[in-house]
Amino acid sequence: MSAVLNLRDVSVQFGAHLALQGVNVSMQAGERVALVGANGSGKSTLLRVAHGLLKVSHGHVSVATDVTQAMAFQRPHMLRSSVLRFVVWGLWLQGTPWRDAHVRAMQALERVGLQDIAQRSARTLSGGQQQRLALARAWALQPNFVLLDEPTSSLDPHAKREVERLLAEWVAAAEVSLLFSSHNLGQVKRLATRVIYLEAGRVLADLPVDAFFNQPLGESHPEAHLFLKGELG
Ligand SMILES: Nc1ncnc2c1ncn2[C@@H]1O[C@H](COP(=O)(O)OP(=O)(O)O)[C@@H](O)[C@H]1O
Ligand SMILES: [Mg+2]
Repeated sequence: MSAVLNLRDVSVQFGAHLALQGVNVSMQAGERVALVGANGSGKSTLLRVAHGLLKVSHGHVSVATDVTQAMAFQRPHMLRSSVLRFVVWGLWLQGTPWRDAHVRAMQALERVGLQDIAQRSARTLSGGQQQRLALARAWALQPNFVLLDEPTSSLDPHAKREVERLLAEWVAAAEVSLLFSSHNLGQVKRLATRVIYLEAGRVLADLPVDAFFNQPLGESHPEAHLFLKGELG
């Protein structure tokens, strides 16, 4: 196994605020890592650093050279365009010729069940449809390293299950490494192989998924324990 991602002593500072502090994370190919922690703990910042969207203030970030990354954002930013165009653009920016991009985009939309509304304006979609569209756009890029920021937040239970089913299918079918943030601990259990618990920009726990949920975290990590109790209760 080789490392797809390596963060070494990474800090990110916004003004006087440290969003990440001394973060060390190494991810091997095929791992599915969940980022959990309260709002503001640094999950989105870590994802953006891993995707190369944000420069670190301190430390070092490296991504394997044979990795194709795709990220889906917490609040998908919909272009003023059709559903189809939204996916085509992603491919076109990646260097795919327009005609091929069209074909692959339609395949991706079929995969998430949006093919019938391919011509609709992306901004008229429901929250669940937008999340599925963001997944289709990421999926169309045929990545082997996928980054997802709260892929099912703000969805109703039905849409949540639908998006999660797509995700589970995706990771089962392809050799992908997955780094995702989530507040849904059931989802973390179902999708992740490993859990990283962040608090105030620091990694407080980094454990295989079973160990994270089964160990008496309370002794070593009282905050993580409270977090879990709050989320599960
Ligand atoms: N662009 C930014 N400018 C200033 N502060 C930011 C910016 N992005 C994030 N932060 C701050 O950094 C901290 C971590 O944010 P974030 O990574 O979004 O947390 P999470 O995703 O876990 O909710 C928060 O305190 C947030 O307010
Ligand atoms: Mg966030």
